[in-house]
Amino acid sequence: MNALLLFALVSAASAFYLSEQDEFHFKSWMAQQNKVYSLKEYYERLQIFTENKRRIDKHNEGNHSFTMGLNQFSDMTFSEFRKSFLWSEPQNCSATRGNYLSSNGPYPDSIDWRNKGNYVTDVKNQGGCGSCWTFSTTGCLESVTAITHGKLVPLSEQQLVDCAQDFNNHGCNGGLPSQAFEYIMYSKGLMAETDYPYTAIEGVCKYDPKAAIAYVREVMNITAYDEMGMVDAVATRNPVSFAFEVTPDFMHYHQGVYTSTKCDNTTDKVNHAVLAVGYGKDNGSPYWIVKNSWSSDWGINGYFLIERGKNMCGLAACSSFPVL
Ligand SMILES: *[C@@H]1O[C@H](CO)[C@@H](O)[C@H](O)[C@H]1NC(C)=O
Ligand SMILES: *[C@@H]1O[C@H](CO)[C@@H](O)[C@H](O)[C@H]1NC(C)=O
Ligand SMILES: *[C@@H]1O[C@H](CO)[C@@H](O)[C@H](O)[C@H]1NC(C)=O
Ligand SMILES: *[C@@H]1O[C@H](CO)[C@@H](O)[C@H](O)[C@H]1NC(C)=O
Repeated sequence: MNALLLFALVSAASAFYLSEQDEFHFKSWMAQQNKVYSLKEYYERLQIFTENKRRIDKHNEGNHSFTMGLNQFSDMTFSEFRKSFLWSEPQNCSATRGNYLSSNGPYPDSIDWRNKGNYVTDVKNQGGCGSCWTFSTTGCLESVTAITHGKLVPLSEQQLVDCAQDFNNHGCNGGLPSQAFEYIMYSKGLMAETDYPYTAIEGVCKYDPKAAIAYVREVMNITAYDEMGMVDAVATRNPVSFAFEVTPDFMHYHQGVYTSTKCDNTTDKVNHAVLAVGYGKDNGSPYWIVKNSWSSDWGINGYFLIERGKNMCGLAACSSFPVL
């Protein structure tokens, strides 16, 4: 079929006006992302991309604490995105009473573990697998191990994807850092990334305890919704794993302090786990500094800032970290 004719049909069917300029933006984005589509898919993705871009442009014209931008997800609908990158069902995230005891401060106004030494590994990429919980877990254990023993070694997410099911974890369909720390504690270790590399697919467990290089002696759960407990742990101890609810606008986050009125603040809605590596204040607005696992091309070199102090998107619902 003639491409122009198809274009007209697609446009007419959806009553969605696509200009030459929309197509120009889409083509530059495709080139930048090395994307190739079949003809049919091209027009589907062009439409989704254009809807996303309009949403982004509209947001950026407003007065918001964060901006949105095009990224590797710009040709996906939120429901496609959710299927590939977020938990498909609620996890058992509810340490109603945690075992972590906070001190009473005082706490520094800001802290960033990335600047305190060689304590945080490079941002990784979970790919199309809902394994964020494994990246939050390795990120935290990598940092705690480096702070304790002075050696920063990337750890294996794949071991957690393949082997941690007995602790209510579900590979590419979700899990919780607290449950992953429990698994590491009982299985007596986690292997290095290089010895058990990431494939983004659930496979047979190949854990070899003799090759373990990181250990957990105790799991610290911070009491649900005790955001000051998270501040205490990050200020006085190490980075902390937490989960929150991702809603459509977060997919397009570019930079600034993320805040939302669309997300929920309860344990059953959280759908993505990440790692708090610090916190600070911007013109009096407090925020967390967070390491994500969507590659360094997303957000602020793979990181994002999110409003602190209001349990934004349920971020204080289930936070935890390991003790060696
Ligand atoms: C933008 O929002 C900030 C914070 O809500 C407010 O202080 C500022 O006055 C607003 N600026 C404009 C131009 O509306
Ligand atoms: C939550 O915990 C219960 C009881 O241990 C378990 O049966 C269930 O599978 C868990 N749910 C998830 C999503 O892991
Ligand atoms: C911490 O959380 C994990 C998983 O959510 C749970 O199995 C464990 O019992 C909790 N630990 C404590 C000490 O409460
Ligand atoms: C969730 O938000 C509601 C409405 O703003 C608020 O009343 C409630 O205290 C919040 N719950 C938690 C656990 O933060």
